[in-house]
Amino acid sequence: MKTIAKKKYQPVLQLPPLSAEELAGLRASIRQHGILVPIMLTEDGRIIDGNNRKQIADELGIGCPEVVQPGLDEEEIRALARSLNIARRQLGREQRRQLVADQLRETPGWSNRRVAKALGVDHHTVASVRLDLEPTGEIPQLGYTTGLDGKDRPATRAVPIVHRSPVERQARIEATQLIHGDCREVLPTLPAASVDLIVCDPPYPEVDREYGRMSEAAWMDLMRAVVRGCRLVLRPQGSMVVLLQPGYERIGRMRTWHLEFALWAAKEWSLVQDLYWHVPDAFPSAGTDRKAGLLKASVKWLVWLGPADCYRDRDAVLRPPSEPVTTRQRPDDPRDSPSGRTRRMGRMHRTALERGGTVPPNCLILPKGGGSPGSEDHPAVTPMAQCEWLCKYLLPEKSVLLDPFCGSGSTLLAALDAGASRVIGIDREKKYLEIARRRVEAG
Ligand SMILES: C[S@@+](CC[C@H](N)C(=O)[O-])C[C@H]1O[C@@H](n2cnc3c(N)ncnc32)[C@H](O)[C@@H]1O
Repeated sequence: MKTIAKKKYQPVLQLPPLSAEELAGLRASIRQHGILVPIMLTEDGRIIDGNNRKQIADELGIGCPEVVQPGLDEEEIRALARSLNIARRQLGREQRRQLVADQLRETPGWSNRRVAKALGVDHHTVASVRLDLEPTGEIPQLGYTTGLDGKDRPATRAVPIVHRSPVERQARIEATQLIHGDCREVLPTLPAASVDLIVCDPPYPEVDREYGRMSEAAWMDLMRAVVRGCRLVLRPQGSMVVLLQPGYERIGRMRTWHLEFALWAAKEWSLVQDLYWHVPDAFPSAGTDRKAGLLKASVKWLVWLGPADCYRDRDAVLRPPSEPVTTRQRPDDPRDSPSGRTRRMGRMHRTALERGGTVPPNCLILPKGGGSPGSEDHPAVTPMAQCEWLCKYLLPEKSVLLDPFCGSGSTLLAALDAGASRVIGIDREKKYLEIARRRVEAG
């Protein structure tokens, strides 16, 4: 460590402020003994540790010894600032968790042990803070995290265990109807206006699957029939979400079936809002290799069809107000944004606090990481996190969900968990319905 010449004396982080009592104690001690522990600076003169000491020394006109911590990158500087803060001060449990949460928001890809080592806290604490932040979308649920050695490893995550009574289990079994057959033939046999929400992840064209390969033309025929059939069984305020994974004809030339389908469906019925799903832990495909030079395909389409006033419960999917909203004072001065609109930041933040959260964007960030437990024998399973989010947002209480391509039943389980009174799954393959049945029975 060495002393430096050019200094800015700005703290690298806004850390929890000292209480008035702590501040008075520190001031009295500095007045009596001077600064005993040097403050720590970055190479460009920002304060890593000792902001309060520096301010008090300046107020009292006392010299303040300094040391410089060289050779750290920005992430390491900020982590060090947090760790020294945790080590030096008598922080309460919530304040410690707050600092861990800040670190996870900044470096969600660090493993729990790496964050724990950087901040000097227990890795169980980091795991528990991560569990609080992931479901709210504040940090992504990553399939892999990077350890201290720089290696990526599958993220370890506690799987929530649900204990159900035999009565509850029986009620779930009785609420489930599994129908074997081609959904084009089954849909017309269901009563009209009897379903509240349809969520499905259909097969995709020109993809080899255990359950077959379809041409784009055959796929469009299938989906036209399915959308028309589904529309008839929905109640007036019901809606339908179709999950689509865009694909390539060859590298550098995309297929356009997902665009054609969305356009057809929007004209035939009505697109409520364009909705996307960003999968941060999507697997790199052939297009991402060195020669092809494309980007990782990580966005799926959620084609949301229904009447303009279809049921949705945005309050159920609000994100908790972020740290800047809850802790920083924002002036209410009008601000001009680059789009030319004027916004009042203070009012925006107050609204978020009154509402109890901020409105999620129409591109959901949901990792595949957690998968769909119990569905391992199905080749193309929909992650539970996606099914759960859609049910939370679009399924009214005690209502009916239908999945015309239900496979191993992920959407059905999510709807049962969300309190559906009935779930109906259709699939052409008996063995997949068997998996769905096992999963429902397992509770
Ligand atoms: C992508 S998978 C659905 C996965 C499901 N969401 C899950 O989590 O297991 C598509 C499913 O559609 C089924 N399928 C394909 N064509 C069908 C048809 N015409 N009628 C009913 N099911 C069909 C396949 O057997 C397959 O299980």
